Amino acid sequence: MKKRDFLKTSLAAATTAFLPKTIMAMGKTKDLLRTAHIGVGGMGFSDLKSIASHPKVKVVALCDVDSNAIAKASSIYPDAKTFKDYRVMLKSLANEVDAVVVSTPDHSHAPASIMAMEMNKAVYCQKPLAHHVSEVRDMRHIAAEKKLVTQMGIQVHSFYDYKLATLLIQSGIIGKVSRVRAWSPKNWGFDGPKPNGADPIPSNFDWNLWLGTAEKRPFKEKVYHPGNWRKLVDFGCGTLGDMGVHIFDTPYNALALDVPNTIKNSCRKPNGFGYPEKNEVIYTFPGTQYTTKNFEWVWHDGKGAPDSHKELRLPDKEKLPLQGAMFMGEKGRLLLPHFMQPPRLIVEGKYVAIDIKKYDPDNKLGITVNDYERDAPKHYHQFVDACLGTDVASAPFSYASRLTETILLGVIAGRFPNKTLHWDSKNARFKESEANQYLTGKNRSF
Ligand SMILES: NC(=O)c1ccc[n+]([C@@H]2O[C@H](COP(=O)([O-])OP(=O)(O)OC[C@H]3O[C@@H](n4cnc5c(N)ncnc54)[C@H](O)[C@@H]3O)[C@@H](O)[C@H]2O)c1
Repeated sequence: MKKRDFLKTSLAAATTAFLPKTIMAMGKTKDLLRTAHIGVGGMGFSDLKSIASHPKVKVVALCDVDSNAIAKASSIYPDAKTFKDYRVMLKSLANEVDAVVVSTPDHSHAPASIMAMEMNKAVYCQKPLAHHVSEVRDMRHIAAEKKLVTQMGIQVHSFYDYKLATLLIQSGIIGKVSRVRAWSPKNWGFDGPKPNGADPIPSNFDWNLWLGTAEKRPFKEKVYHPGNWRKLVDFGCGTLGDMGVHIFDTPYNALALDVPNTIKNSCRKPNGFGYPEKNEVIYTFPGTQYTTKNFEWVWHDGKGAPDSHKELRLPDKEKLPLQGAMFMGEKGRLLLPHFMQPPRLIVEGKYVAIDIKKYDPDNKLGITVNDYERDAPKHYHQFVDACLGTDVASAPFSYASRLTETILLGVIAGRFPNKTLHWDSKNARFKESEANQYLTGKNRSF
């Protein structure tokens, strides 16, 4: 069954009961945004606090398949109704919710977000936007069709240093860019072979609802929930999906990239259960106004990444930041550490001071805060303000879907180590037909 068909079945009863208009479609500002939160443990707890720190937000509902996560969130928002099944929540609060925040593991992003959008809700969805290319395309399509306010949870997108890097690159500080190298040695999540046997399901946890549309399997402690799912092929998108979507965001945005032509992932052989723990992924893109005729994005992850490379050598033998991106241009290189550190200009092997006033004379970018607790809510508040009609979301699904799709193509390339895949975006197909089976998921009814 296609995911949208599956969701239509679960929605049939709900949609007859109401016909709400989107806030944007109402064409006027609102005084209060009523939010429902799906997944309130882990990052979801942080998302909840950041959204709720906006003075015009009322948290009306909390949903989690783990009652411990609900208990913690409820202790801060005791007036919010609580649920363990988002379908029940959305149906029963159809007229009491304006916006939905989705902070579940990746495989449940699309089912939950699509159901909310089909019900005309604005959606803030964590990164990467979804688990499959078909899902990101559906999400983009529905958001556009219904003119909904949407935002992907890439909060650093709204940070000063990233906006400054975008401005510098687009102002031509290093000329046209021919290549970006980006890296993250982050290696979190379960990384063993497929486990045997089953463990008892904890009484606070609903395994069936956690699996959602994914295939049924025995529960195993410390393999899936909480947080361990991210390197497993049925639930997460590996380190490329996890960190690549953050670190590639600025190059993707600044260089006005769209769809890659080819993707090659050099990694170990796939085992069908977990993603390879070390990847070097090379994407080629057609040129844009900010790049040379052809452009290459190279991603390095895994323990010790990146391997040393002359393009990554820093002046005075300085150590590379743990995670980040290096832009290679005609006139020099721009280093963008991830995150909360300013970009640095390197010309002929030496750091050169950047005269920011020259590029931002009216101080439109503001100042660097370098305090995560103060900076992170900006992206969430922008979403809330967009819902209330007073701002515009900067990472809407129209953008986030293309960025995520690009990332997911690299994840699929990991199934075919060292093979160059050719992407036909118009038809949403690889030239290598054996890769097309990974563009969509299984969509179990649960
Ligand atoms: N933007 C960021 O900086 C950032 C940082 C970390 C994680 N994330 C993203 O946040 C999401 C969650 O990651 P995490 O590390 O918090 O994972 P996690 O496993 O620690 O937490 C997920 C939470 O969602 C709940 N959940 C799972 N399925 C659910 C369902 N169907 N309905 C309701 N609740 C459900 C779980 O019980 C848990 O409380 C992922 O998409 C991840 O990529 C983003």
